[in-house]
Amino acid sequence: MYKLPGNAGVPVFGDKSLEFYRDPVSFCQQRIEKHRSRVFQCRMLNRPTAFICSVQGMRELLCEKSNLFLKDPTDLMTNMYGDTIVTSNGEEACLLRLSLTSLFTGSCLESSSDYITSVCERCLKDLSLSGQPECVYSAFKRLGTELVLGLFLNIRAEEQPDLFQEIMQLCTQHWHGLISAPVNLKVPLWSSGFSTALDARDKLMVIIKDKLENDTQGFVGSLGSLPLPDSTSASQHLLLFISALIPKALASLLTSFTLALSGNKQARLRAMEDPDYLRTVLLEVQRLWPPFIGGRRIADQDTTIAGFPVPKDYGAIYISHSVHRDPEVFQQPDNFLPERWSGRNAGQEHFLCSFGNGPRSCMGTKLTDVFLKEACMYLLKHYDWCLDPPSQDLEYKWLPVSRPANPPTISFTRLDLTRSDRSDTN
Ligand code: HEM
Repeated sequence: MYKLPGNAGVPVFGDKSLEFYRDPVSFCQQRIEKHRSRVFQCRMLNRPTAFICSVQGMRELLCEKSNLFLKDPTDLMTNMYGDTIVTSNGEEACLLRLSLTSLFTGSCLESSSDYITSVCERCLKDLSLSGQPECVYSAFKRLGTELVLGLFLNIRAEEQPDLFQEIMQLCTQHWHGLISAPVNLKVPLWSSGFSTALDARDKLMVIIKDKLENDTQGFVGSLGSLPLPDSTSASQHLLLFISALIPKALASLLTSFTLALSGNKQARLRAMEDPDYLRTVLLEVQRLWPPFIGGRRIADQDTTIAGFPVPKDYGAIYISHSVHRDPEVFQQPDNFLPERWSGRNAGQEHFLCSFGNGPRSCMGTKLTDVFLKEACMYLLKHYDWCLDPPSQDLEYKWLPVSRPANPPTISFTRLDLTRSDRSDTN
């Protein structure tokens, strides 16, 4: 058997984490070309690590061999959110998934639909009001935040603006801790981002616990009555669900959607009239611009990926950006071609990994799907839009959540107003 292409380098000095964080896409692209292989090794987080950039490798890691590759319980996610499903393994993870699934499917999901409609209407109705180009990423992040705080905590921006604002700020501080170095250092007048984040987490936990104790309605009420492993589990999961992570991921997809269809009136009309075309547009948006760069596991025993040996204790990282551009599966991989999903790639949605894949895939996919369709339909029905100014640098950054590095600005024109303007002049 051939060894994994590349080399794992010496401890500490051979570590490539910083190079990866600086530009993960070039990092992978250079090595794919150098090794002529979409699976290779490097030292990441000071551990020899297999990088998986092919569809076949991703399916093996996340589906067929998911029992051999485990979540890392010492991941930074545990530092920030405590013990949640995200970093659990084995029977514990199965039981948690079983319990939590009911919150994101069936009648719970159905009962969210009116709120989703109203929040889209409230946050998107004024995009053309100022007459100035809108910074779409910020507008969509606000929409995502209103969605999660309303759905998961019963806190509505229009009913409790001060509390809403306070939680939003705490979530932002908490988030910055997640992406700063885990150094808990405090001196008078200065504290590291990580320690500020831990303070924010404590304050959020007070609000969450109060909600869990006193609110019997909606998601909080249902979560409070689920069979969970211990008394802190419900609050830690709520902290995860309301964190800035989800609004940012939603804003990432909505921004990519508006950019992909800006200046293409025909595609917008077609997406508005044909739900299947909208479905293929959204698939293509998540293929080319997945919000998260990927996910990480640790090999629990000696095994193989794509025919290469992966020893026990090796890390394994799937890179969604590269998996989604695997030319074996996606022809003209860099081109935005929604039609591929009703042609050559029809029925191959399971070759994507924007929401993970296999038994540990995202639990919020259905909710996200409902939300995205609602938000996109609102935009399509009510607006024409175009980049303003027409020439902007749309180069993406991929970490921590993907989006154009320079926030793009877009001008929206209301379709209904255009129509009434037209009839006024007739
Ligand atoms: C655009 C929105 C979202 C994206 C792109 C996304 C993406 C992902 C990805 C990539 C994973 C797998 C990570 C891995 O393989 O290690 C994941 C897991 C997960 N997601 Fe999402 N997610 C989104 C929204 C949501 C929402 C709205 C919820 C629910 C509140 C949610 C709940 C979860 C949970 C609980 C897991 C862990 C599942 C497990 O470990 O078994 N996600 N998500």
